Amino acid sequence: MRCWQASCHRIPAGPEHEKQRGNEGKMKLNIVCIPGDGIGPEIVAEAKKVLDKTAKVYGHEIAYTDVLMGGASIDACGVPLTQETIDTAKGADAVLMGSIGGDTTTSPWYKLAPDLRPEAGLLGLRKALSLFANLRPAVLYDELADACPLKKEIIGSGFDMMIMRELTGGLYFGERYTTEEGGVRKAVDTLTYDEKEIRRIAVKAFEIAMKRNKKVTSVDKANVLDSSRLWRKVVEEVAADYPEVALEHMLVDNCAMQLVKNPAQFDVILTENMFGDILSDEASMVTGSIGMLASASLNDSKFGLYEPSHGSAPDIAGQGIANPIATILSAAMMLRYSFDLDKEADAVEAAVKSILKKGYRTVDIMSEGCTKVGCKEMGDLLADEIN
Ligand code: IPM
Ligand code: MG
Repeated sequence: MRCWQASCHRIPAGPEHEKQRGNEGKMKLNIVCIPGDGIGPEIVAEAKKVLDKTAKVYGHEIAYTDVLMGGASIDACGVPLTQETIDTAKGADAVLMGSIGGDTTTSPWYKLAPDLRPEAGLLGLRKALSLFANLRPAVLYDELADACPLKKEIIGSGFDMMIMRELTGGLYFGERYTTEEGGVRKAVDTLTYDEKEIRRIAVKAFEIAMKRNKKVTSVDKANVLDSSRLWRKVVEEVAADYPEVALEHMLVDNCAMQLVKNPAQFDVILTENMFGDILSDEASMVTGSIGMLASASLNDSKFGLYEPSHGSAPDIAGQGIANPIATILSAAMMLRYSFDLDKEADAVEAAVKSILKKGYRTVDIMSEGCTKVGCKEMGDLLADEIN
C-alpha cells in the first residue's frame, strides 16, 4: 500500500492571505466555522476540539467565528446565504464547514424555490469566495480495508487518488430556467467553460501531480460535448509545461467503470464540476469509508473552505454517532494548505491513524473486535492523542 499521507502534499499558492508568523513561527488564526445542518454542528465541534489541542501543543492561537449557512440560515434569516456570512468568511484566514442540507423528500427547505434552498447557499459561497479548485482525496486506509466493497484482487495493494474538481463553473453555474412552450414544460441548464477557467484548474492539477505520482487523468465527454473538446485542448496546452507528468484523457463513463475495476491506476483525476461531483462520491464509496474523507476548496491564494466529502446525514443527526474524522482531516488539510503548518497537520493525521490502529471506530466503520465510540468520544480520543 502506498503512503496514506501522499494525498496531503502542499500545492503552491498565490500571494494573498499569506499569514504572518509571529515569534518562532507561532500563528494567530482567525477561522470562520459553518456548523451547518444535520450532523454538521456535532462534527465541527470535534474538529475544533482537535484544532484547539493542536494549537495548544504547537503554541498557536485560534479564534473562531461561527456563521450560518444552508438550512440553519434559512430558518434564522429566510435565505440560505447572507451577505454577512460572505463578508465574515472573506475576512477570515480560512473557513471550516460541517455540512448543509436536509432530507430532500421531507424537509420543508425543499418546498422553497430552488435558489432559496440550502445547496444554493453553498454554491453561492463557493462563487463569492472564488473557490474554483476542489480537492477530494480518496484513500484506502490499511486499517479499514475490510470496509472496502471491492474484491481483494481488485484492491491489490490499495489506492490513493486525488480528485481535482472544478467548482465554480459548468452546469452548476450556467444559465438555467424552466418554461412552457405550446403547453409542453421545458427545462434548460447550460454547460459553459472558457479557457481561463479550464487552465487555472488544470494548472492546480498538474502542480499537485508533481508532488504525488506525476500522473493526471483528465476526465471529459469529448466524444459528445464541445465544452469537453475545449477542456481537452486546454489541458494539453497546460501539460506541455509539465513534461514530467504523464497525461491521459478518459471519457467520464469509462472513468466511472475504471474506478471500480482498477482504482489503483489513478493518481490525480482532473475534471469539470458535475463529473467531479459524481465521480468523487463514487471514489469515496469505493474506499468504504466516506466518513473518513476530507476535502478542500481553494481559490488562487492560500484561502480555502474545508469540509468533509460527505453530506449532512439528517437520519443520524443529534444521535451522537456521526464520524467526525472527515471533518478533522479537513481541518488538517486547512493547517497544511492555508497555513503551511505541515508538522501540525502531520500530527493530526498521525493521531487518526494511531486511534484507528488502537481499534476505536465510530459505527459507520465498525468491524468485529473493535471498540465502538460516539462522535464526542472519537474527538476526545484524537485530541488526547496529540501531544
Ligand atoms: C458536493 C455536494 C454539493 C455539490 C451540493 C450540496 C450542492 O454534492 O459538495 O459534492 O453538488 O457540489
Ligand atoms: Mg456531491
